[in-house]
Amino acid sequence: MNNLTVVILAAGIGKRMKSPIPKVLQNIAGKPLISYSVEKALSLRPDDVVIVISPYTEKVKELFSSFGMLKFVIQNPPLGTGHAVYCSKDHVDITNSDVLILYADVPFVSAETLKRLVESHRQTRKPLTLLTAYVSDPSGYGRILRDEKGFIRGIVEDSDASEDEKRIKEINTGIMIAKGEFLFASLERVGCNNAKGEYYLTDIVKMVNGEGGVNSVMIEKEEEIMGINTMEDLAKAEMYLRYQINRIHMLNGVRIIDPSTTFIDGSVEIGNGTLIYPFSIIEGETKIGKNCTILQGVRIKDCTIEDDVVVKPYCVMEMSILRKGVQIGPFAHLRPETELKEGVRIGNFVEVKKSIIGRKTKANHLAYIGDATVGEEVNIGAGTITCNFDGEKKNPTFIEDGVFVGTNVSLVAPVRLGRGCYIGAGSTITKDVPPDALGIARERQRNIEGWAEKRRKRGRE
Ligand code: UD1
Ligand code: CA
Repeated sequence: MNNLTVVILAAGIGKRMKSPIPKVLQNIAGKPLISYSVEKALSLRPDDVVIVISPYTEKVKELFSSFGMLKFVIQNPPLGTGHAVYCSKDHVDITNSDVLILYADVPFVSAETLKRLVESHRQTRKPLTLLTAYVSDPSGYGRILRDEKGFIRGIVEDSDASEDEKRIKEINTGIMIAKGEFLFASLERVGCNNAKGEYYLTDIVKMVNGEGGVNSVMIEKEEEIMGINTMEDLAKAEMYLRYQINRIHMLNGVRIIDPSTTFIDGSVEIGNGTLIYPFSIIEGETKIGKNCTILQGVRIKDCTIEDDVVVKPYCVMEMSILRKGVQIGPFAHLRPETELKEGVRIGNFVEVKKSIIGRKTKANHLAYIGDATVGEEVNIGAGTITCNFDGEKKNPTFIEDGVFVGTNVSLVAPVRLGRGCYIGAGSTITKDVPPDALGIARERQRNIEGWAEKRRKRGRE
């Protein structure tokens, strides 16, 4: 939109959070609070987006370092929302622009609502348009004061409100749009004689002259304007957003048995026909294909899972690729840079790290496979360990197609097991094994005849 600057306020300390992490950087459904307002702002295609930060929230700048069009101004120290907007003055074309103000702690306002607000503002040609809402519980919000004719006369903050004013259910969402000239001229006149000793942006409402000088757009969807001030608010917001995310997946044909205990980040993609049991956490840049089954208690982060994969209970996986038809778990652990090719089976208490496991290979119980390249149709026995670390560096293991590794084998890397070879159970393999050979490296068994009988006799004497 032309002649529009969006100013996002993100400099506040977030005192009520009582957290060492600044409020606007707290995550909701895997993304920092501030990113929701930034996305909405950019969706309007304004001339400029200015983010007001402070020394407390400087990390916001790093977060968006790849977003070319954002401008940052520092408010130091943060003296209130009015002062914050005033700090953006040098970045706004005051005479020609409307300024849309968003609070970084009001994340869920929709792009449609913002468009409606801008359009209404431009049609009515008033200096200021507020986005207000009727809510069931107005506590914590600024209340909209209207006169007997229904015209807006002011906003009173919760901490400054009288008992009567506290009963008003129309609240200030914090989102407003104003003509640049009116906005900055009014801000110069705002004082800080109030309960918090801050320069309130909301005080500019009183400075609009004339009857009906303030325009407003009201919305009914309370969730859209939820302001986040405390850890409790953050949890409520998280619950709301998670349900919205799960709902979209369900509408797309994903079966989520219990949406209230299934945690899926907004960035995750899931194919239809996939079934997800409770207590799963699916995060980051994860893509899950069609007709997969994710059983309970699974954590998946930044993984690609193709169609028809079964993840049995209590698996943990990160930055891994599971090709079509893989079955893993229960209790399997895939660490970054693992790729399981089609039809691989990884069973209980198996850990795989930075390894490629070839088609139809099985490691069904109790193994560690790290820095390994494993071929197709290999059988890895229970208790097999790749000894990949020599105390200084990591070394690779190569296991070629069709190898059979017996149980309890230590493979001291670097080492290569040739195509189709067998490794005897209990071996410690320190040298390469040629194709089709038997590699066996263990003490030969001795039986001492009658030893036990003798021992028992000694005991009786
Ligand atoms: C504010 C409004 C209130 C409204 C509510 C909606 C004011 C005075 N009050 O109250 O009417 O109902 O939001 O959620 O505006 N910030 C800065 N610099 C500052 C102070 C705050 O950038 O000096 C930023 C914060 O990071 C936050 C936003 O402004 O993103 C709102 O600040 P906050 O202190 O949470 O205002 P509320 O008390 O919630
Ligand atoms: Ca707030």
